[in-house]
Amino acid sequence: MDVAVIGLGKLGSPMAAIFASLGHNTIGVDMVPATVEKINRLEPPVFEPGLKELLLQTGGRLRATSNLAEAVQNSRISFVIVPTPSEKNGSFSMKYAEAAAREIGFALLGRTDPHLVVLTSTVMPGDTDAVFIKALESASGQKVGSNIGVCYSPEFIALGTCIRDFLHPDLVLIGESDSASGKLLADFYQTLHQSNPGISRMAIVNAEITKISLNSFVTMKISFANMIASICENFPEGNVDDVTKALGHDSRIGAKYFRGSVSFGGPCFPRDNRALARLGMDLGKEMALPEATDKINNSQLDRVLTIINNLDPRGLTVGILGLAYKPGTNVVEKSFGIALADALAERGLPVIAHDFHARIPAVMSMNQDIEFTDSVEECCKRSDIIIVALPCAEYGNLPREVLCESKRPKVILDCWRLNKLSDFADVAKVIALGTGDVQKVANKSFSPPLVQPFKVS
Ligand SMILES: NC(=O)c1ccc[n+]([C@@H]2O[C@H](COP(=O)([O-])OP(=O)(O)OC[C@H]3O[C@@H](n4cnc5c(N)ncnc54)[C@H](O)[C@@H]3O)[C@@H](O)[C@H]2O)c1
Repeated sequence: MDVAVIGLGKLGSPMAAIFASLGHNTIGVDMVPATVEKINRLEPPVFEPGLKELLLQTGGRLRATSNLAEAVQNSRISFVIVPTPSEKNGSFSMKYAEAAAREIGFALLGRTDPHLVVLTSTVMPGDTDAVFIKALESASGQKVGSNIGVCYSPEFIALGTCIRDFLHPDLVLIGESDSASGKLLADFYQTLHQSNPGISRMAIVNAEITKISLNSFVTMKISFANMIASICENFPEGNVDDVTKALGHDSRIGAKYFRGSVSFGGPCFPRDNRALARLGMDLGKEMALPEATDKINNSQLDRVLTIINNLDPRGLTVGILGLAYKPGTNVVEKSFGIALADALAERGLPVIAHDFHARIPAVMSMNQDIEFTDSVEECCKRSDIIIVALPCAEYGNLPREVLCESKRPKVILDCWRLNKLSDFADVAKVIALGTGDVQKVANKSFSPPLVQPFKVS
């Protein structure tokens, strides 16, 4: 199949590489010349594990251009994966998607050969029709549903595992303007997917509602687990893992994304949840579920700050392991580690941090100046309070020798319970978030005693 991928960002560049590596002639389009040049040199324009290797497997079938019309005219299907940034009120802006639709429409003006346009960007329910299709029809002079077909088909992938998630989806969602368009896209996906996902085909608006509902439901599950974790912390033998693991065995609930830790972040979860709330509010509905999810999520920072406060942190250095919003990515958007580092530094505490990939984006997005270390060991060595803020496997193996050598007793606050903390109990005060450790520490304030309360917002 000859395909165009319009928008070669965090999602579009892995997708273009996957299409080409699996045999499709792929033309990538981006308005940023450096991105086009990088793809043409088979260099990843974004950080994504495995993308570099995948680009080298594209066998001459991938090229990039900034000429959208040329790409569309030489393709049977155009995928549109441009940004849809959040507006202040929680909805998504269509300015880039609308501009792309108009350009595609002009490229198809007067052409009679069939063309399928697939919108992959996240949009507000109703906007594919009201904005995207409207712009496409007006620029092309053709009604969608005959020569030109449109599908809305969002991806459920996470940065850091984009390639695996794309090749092994749990579900495939196709909103279609007409059944021939939906079938063409479903057949195309069959050439890519290595799992055997359920393909759900439906009216475009239902696919739009499904996309944001799915992320909103997952975030509701995360906030539920975090709520249970905060309850477990009030009992000496409380342990959120015991509770959520048992609950997860019930197939109505399931174990995924049910860990009980800190807030969720990233470029999709928080905003998709807010968008569902916005949609419902605009329709005059009671949207208590997504609102509560958001509220619980926003309270996670204070939950951890309160624990640190109870340790009497004055004069102590806090080390934060992990600033990205999830392992394997350099994206720090709405990440817990960044929010925590900023909050502690704002309160005058010395903060040092380590992250495997996100150091530069972290520096650029933080309000406060903090120090970075090149290794986990150095971060642990120089910190009095070590906080495991990200579930990276490497942070589950804290360097015991460093803690043994320290002249001052250290505290380990493991937000993800990655380390076997009993192994450290002789050399550090250990706190597993979501367990009774939290209450024990709160009862025995770390010395020196508090003189002035450490204010938690
Ligand atoms: N990143 C994710 O994890 C993820 C997951 C699911 C859905 N999404 C959705 O996918 C969409 C894209 O997200 P992203 O993270 O890849 O964005 P991004 O900002 O990383 O990349 C978008 C790219 O589109 C290009 N672009 C914008 N307008 C263009 C135009 N008219 N022609 C050609 N190129 C154009 C930009 O230059 C940029 O390179 C968003 O709607 C997002 O919500 C993202």
